[in-house]
Amino acid sequence: MKIATKMKTKLTITLISCLMLIACNNAQGPKVKHELPEPESAGAKVFDSFCSNCHAPPRIKSHKADEWRNIVERMQNHRLKKAYHLLTDSEKETLLTYLEKHSI
Ligand code: HEC
Repeated sequence: MKIATKMKTKLTITLISCLMLIACNNAQGPKVKHELPEPESAGAKVFDSFCSNCHAPPRIKSHKADEWRNIVERMQNHRLKKAYHLLTDSEKETLLTYLEKHSI
């Protein structure tokens, strides 16, 4: 009987922790979307899903339009080293069009 009560308490605590975690995650929502220009565009979506896995998402205005291509190529190499799947050519072009449009 005593053990069963202990188990129940443990289960309840675990359940509450899980619920809190889920609640927190939902409250935060997507990490960068609200700060991105044209948040619903295809480019913003690629940026959102591929550019904050390893570091905080970079500020788009931190680089000139003609610098992004090299950077994105370098990031592909970083992805390769971590065995993350690469952006497809079309995802890359969508992202570059977006970055170039909104950079300085
Ligand atoms: C697999 C991990 C990884 C992913 C994913 C990643 N990066 Fe990076 N990023 C790095 C590392 C490591 C550095 C530091 C070394 C360097 O600059 O190459 C860095 C540095 C940077 C810098 C600062 C360097 C500079 O020249 O100003 C920018 C900007 C950047 N990343 C942009 C991006 C963008 C845009 C994406 C999405 C396409 C992205 N990163 C995705 C690993 C990653």
